[in-house]
Amino acid sequence: METLTQVNTAMPRIGDKAPDFEAVTTKGKIVLSEYARDQWLVMFSHPADFTPVCTTEMSGFAKRKKEFEALNTALLGLSIDSVHAHLGWVNNVREKTGVYFDFPIIADLDMKVSKLYGMLQPNESETAAVRAVFFIDPEKKIRLIMYYPLNVGRNMDEILRALQALQVSDKHKVALPLDWKKGDKVIIPPPKTLQEMDERISDDSIEKVDFYLAMKDLN
Ligand code: BEZ
Repeated sequence: METLTQVNTAMPRIGDKAPDFEAVTTKGKIVLSEYARDQWLVMFSHPADFTPVCTTEMSGFAKRKKEFEALNTALLGLSIDSVHAHLGWVNNVREKTGVYFDFPIIADLDMKVSKLYGMLQPNESETAAVRAVFFIDPEKKIRLIMYYPLNVGRNMDEILRALQALQVSDKHKVALPLDWKKGDKVIIPPPKTLQEMDERISDDSIEKVDFYLAMKDLN
């Protein structure tokens, strides 16, 4: 019998097409390639239902769902639990705290999706998915991946910041510096030829440290 330490640990990488799958969720069956059409998708795993850190994280996604929606982004959770466990947990959190996990959560009992997305990292846990976050663009390309261990909760501000940074980078063809947040200056891509370098050096209209590090405001 295959043990978790023998699972195929091939992981999707940034730039890959998001592997397609069909799965049972708390909102019925979904097929990834048909889910969140023309939208960004943030897909995240949690180790187990009815556990403390996971409850805080899922509540974070639920409370800030409107911010994801404002960024044209759908949410999709996952754990290696049954749909019955998911329903019980969602209802329990709603009763106890008033927070409702109003997004689909995959019941990945056969670990099909977890394996496909490298969420099973057996040296961290033999039985649970790690805390993964996949940022998938409207073309269903994986654009950013986060993996956190079981004992450290994620940061919702950073998840939203990274999502916004990807979208701003795409829209304006710029890069984003350390700690960038909405409203901050953005990085103009560095020159690629000697001519572009000379043009950049003589351009006094932009803020620059040198030709390779120039910033501008987005209007
Ligand atoms: C938690 O969410 O608190 C948790 C889940 C699995 C292992 C350790 C912590």
